[in-house]
Amino acid sequence: MFNIFRKKSKQDAKLFYTTDVHSHILPGVDHGSQSVDESLEMLRAQLDMGITRVMCTSHVTAETFENTPETLTAAFNVLKKAIEEEGLPIEIYVSAEYRIDEYWNSEYEAGHVLPMPGNHVLLENSFVQELIGIDNMMFDLQVKGYRPILAHPERYRYYHDRRDRYKTLHNASVKFQVNILSLAGYFGGGARDRAVWLIQNNLCDMLGSDMHNMEHAGIIKDYIGSRDWHKLCEKYNLERRIINDKEFAPFLDQ
Ligand SMILES: [Fe+2]
Ligand SMILES: [Fe+2]
Repeated sequence: MFNIFRKKSKQDAKLFYTTDVHSHILPGVDHGSQSVDESLEMLRAQLDMGITRVMCTSHVTAETFENTPETLTAAFNVLKKAIEEEGLPIEIYVSAEYRIDEYWNSEYEAGHVLPMPGNHVLLENSFVQELIGIDNMMFDLQVKGYRPILAHPERYRYYHDRRDRYKTLHNASVKFQVNILSLAGYFGGGARDRAVWLIQNNLCDMLGSDMHNMEHAGIIKDYIGSRDWHKLCEKYNLERRIINDKEFAPFLDQ
């Protein structure tokens, strides 16, 4: 499935932005990286693609990954120390990918939210059905000073025939983050088509790796070396339109 795009040379396999806004690189807190060594390998892969700032957005999900700001910060501190010891020229920031579910509801209520710099919060919809009240939730977040980012909107199948919902959410100042893995076809043709549709319709604000492991890193690296990727970037002027760097720059150390 991943070889459908003709390759360009490997030297071109660099991203045009330096901030990855979605990754599962913290060790041992979800089904992403399972060790510090694996995390470091993934960070080297990020550097190889031109990324120098990584938002660590591990899962926070009811029953499966009931992380807290404390568990995530503990893993972050371990990785941060390892990065310093290795001398890797990459900055990491601790946050989470919050699934909107009953655990989120109680954590949010209790104020246990670990936003990215600039108060950005990465939120993941249910994969089964759209949640009742999601619009109110997004509004409430903004009233409280957060900036919601919807993770991989292309992956929610129930929006396929209800594309008006994308526009409604986006018009309500929710930023959309599309996965490069989706563009590469990793989640199937439907997710890829919707990802391209979002780009075509000016509904893609940010791109993310959503990298869980080195397999993902390899797929992304191959894809950003493909003609398909370069054509997409050129056709839709992604370098100007994608705000990964611009959105975070005022809040990050230079
Ligand atoms: Fe996700
Ligand atoms: Fe994710």
